[in-house]
Amino acid sequence: MMPKNNRQFVKLLAAALVLTCLFSACRKVDPRPETPDVDIPEDPDVTYTYHTEVDEDILLTAGAGEYLILANKEHPLSKDHVPENLVEYSGKTYYEKEVMLEARVAQAVLSMTREMEADGISDLFVTSGYRSYTYQQRLFANYLASEMSGISTEAYAYFGEDYIAKNYTQKGLTKLNKTDATVVVKSYSAEAGYSEHQTGLCVDFITSTMSTLDRSFETSEAFAWLSENAYRFGFILRYPETKEEVTGYSYEPWHYRFVGREVATAIYFRGMTLEEFLAS
Ligand code: DAL
Ligand code: ZN
Repeated sequence: MMPKNNRQFVKLLAAALVLTCLFSACRKVDPRPETPDVDIPEDPDVTYTYHTEVDEDILLTAGAGEYLILANKEHPLSKDHVPENLVEYSGKTYYEKEVMLEARVAQAVLSMTREMEADGISDLFVTSGYRSYTYQQRLFANYLASEMSGISTEAYAYFGEDYIAKNYTQKGLTKLNKTDATVVVKSYSAEAGYSEHQTGLCVDFITSTMSTLDRSFETSEAFAWLSENAYRFGFILRYPETKEEVTGYSYEPWHYRFVGREVATAIYFRGMTLEEFLAS
């Protein structure tokens, strides 16, 4: 027989447990990602001049956390995360497809491409902006199926000739196995919930001479212009060539992320990635 005090204690414990469970069940999971709180960096000695009419209020975010959301392999987004203020981008898109972006970002891209056109470069189209969780899921699955249907140049680049020869060609195998295919896909595509595209804060650009996003974008006039000017409109090259270890993804000369002009300028002049900036 349990002493009376102990019985009361057990009852109290049980009541506390029930209350805790009820509280957790009622609590709604907040689908919003963590928004970093950063000090706005001091502007380097930069004078921003534009040839076109630019609404600088759009570009200046005062380091607002919502524009600094970090979505990467370590920082997933909730399946339900959909950016507030999504709008259809009204500028030039690839084959006039519908591209949705966060409202301020849409205006910033428009502003940037107008300035580029004023500088004589008009061959540039937006090909991707906001992508939902389910869209990214399909995209990843398609990439995986494609990698498993043969041995792509991406697979050769990732594993090296020796690995492919030893594990595939010398054995008469012509298709990557699922494990290897997944590793290759993860080097260039985010899994659903891990893509920055789900934030609506980034864009992929393409030119009329390209049929798919590949390294040839690097040879375009638009890329040369973006490399020098994107920061003036609040954008950063998100996956630089030498920072694969930091970003988790291979080089993407076409992928630009809006972070606001203050932060973009700091990142540009310090030669950083968003990960490094947020950790600094
Ligand atoms: N290609 C980038 C990493 C993405 O899939 O979000
Ligand atoms: Zn992209």
